[in-house]
Amino acid sequence: MQKLSEAAVAQINAICDRHINDKTPLMMILSDIQKEYGYVPVEVQELVSEKTGISVAEIYGVVTFYSFFSLKPKGKYIIGCCLGTACYVKGAQQIIDKFSEILGIGPGETTEDGLFTIDALRCIGACGIAPAVTINGTVYPKMEVGQVADVIAQYRSKED
Ligand code: FES
Repeated sequence: MQKLSEAAVAQINAICDRHINDKTPLMMILSDIQKEYGYVPVEVQELVSEKTGISVAEIYGVVTFYSFFSLKPKGKYIIGCCLGTACYVKGAQQIIDKFSEILGIGPGETTEDGLFTIDALRCIGACGIAPAVTINGTVYPKMEVGQVADVIAQYRSKED
């Protein structure tokens, strides 16, 4: 298991202290850790358990239940492909398959260069523009398989 740096321990302790007296401290703590630290690995869950007295099993259960939380670091660009019913019937599976084919990763995985993560999402409330894809909050409406390569290229070109 990876050892946390002193800076990471201090950051996580500070987040726990900030929320320890909240009504629902665990959700608040885990959300802030996800936002500030980027993911919630097991060693971080153990530290949160020590600080809060909440069991690691309970923390692990929450982290793995909600797709917002991640056990592994995510890429710089998070490609969210909606696979809800409306998007599915309009070809969302082919869209996510194309992202996977070009990037060489499956849903829930991150490219080796740390740039892209593909997430399969349930309905994101944008059924009128199905199939919908989001990348770091930007929504791509009525996505077509033929657009996927260009969209990836746009994000890659930002890194040049
Ligand atoms: S099913 Fe995709 S946005 Fe609703």
